[in-house]
Amino acid sequence: MALQWTSTLSVGVPEIDAQHQELFRRVDRLLDAMLHHDRSEAEPLLDFLRAFVVDHFAAEERVMAELGYPGAAPHAEEHRRFAAALREVDQEFLAAGPTADLVLRLEQQTVAWLRDHVYSTDVALGRFVHARQAASGRAAC
Ligand SMILES: [Fe+2]
Ligand SMILES: [Fe+2]
Repeated sequence: MALQWTSTLSVGVPEIDAQHQELFRRVDRLLDAMLHHDRSEAEPLLDFLRAFVVDHFAAEERVMAELGYPGAAPHAEEHRRFAAALREVDQEFLAAGPTADLVLRLEQQTVAWLRDHVYSTDVALGRFVHARQAASGRAAC
């Protein structure tokens, strides 16, 4: 299990939390498929992930824009870099299949990036969302 979502990673927006859970599940399956050189399993997972991260990043960026989140620009820049790295993995996979080099890159770059990003950058956004929710809860009382 390369990635495991726990409630400590909650961003406080159900749509985003559900997407993170799905993302972790699929990336974990992708890594497993790559490690077993299972091209027929890996290919649809990569197709899914390519589209899914676009929607997921857009959802987070929408939340950041709506709340006027001060860390929005560097956060979105991390998203762009990840999407570009995932496209490279995808192209390399299409060209050469699940080579040992690609599996290593997937593990050391893609999975590591995702873990670091969700555990720090997304969790920081989550703290901001939770603080806003608490403040508006107090205001409503
Ligand atoms: Fe995220
Ligand atoms: Fe993010």
